[in-house]
Amino acid sequence: MNKFDLNVNGERHTVEAAPNRTLMEVLRDNLGLTGTKKGCDMGACGACTVIMDGVTILSCMTQAVRCRDREITTIEGLAEKDRLHPLQESAIEHGAVQCGYCTPGWLLSAKVLLGQNPKPTRHEVATAIAGNFCRCTGYQKIIESILAVSEGGERAR
Ligand code: FES
Ligand code: FES
Repeated sequence: MNKFDLNVNGERHTVEAAPNRTLMEVLRDNLGLTGTKKGCDMGACGACTVIMDGVTILSCMTQAVRCRDREITTIEGLAEKDRLHPLQESAIEHGAVQCGYCTPGWLLSAKVLLGQNPKPTRHEVATAIAGNFCRCTGYQKIIESILAVSEGGERAR
């Protein structure tokens, strides 16, 4: 077992995990952050997407021990206290959530996209979430909900 610190959603946690444990497993099993979803567990679906040091990563393909002292954001860290993130509010308003299994992953992909490119085209949004498979196939509403939050979108502030 390795003992190491993870910075998750602004909090430091000391965890113990075997070297082969993935970040997805440690987030879910050690820290109880089950918003990070286990889909394929082989790097293909994007359900396990989290943000590490400002970029999205697949937590099922990432050894937890390699994430020590990095800044990790999971879906639980997207809202500010009791206030949902605008992307979350927009997802609800646009009916962009069906079963919800893909939702944490694409929300985090969208957060990174808008941080880098506040006014993306529809194509750029589609490209940014291309690694987040939605088995309910609600892609149009997902894209519309992201565009609404972008600069010039109906929810832009
Ligand atoms: S669970 Fe990680 S990519 Fe599918
Ligand atoms: S809402 Fe069901 S997988 Fe996307």
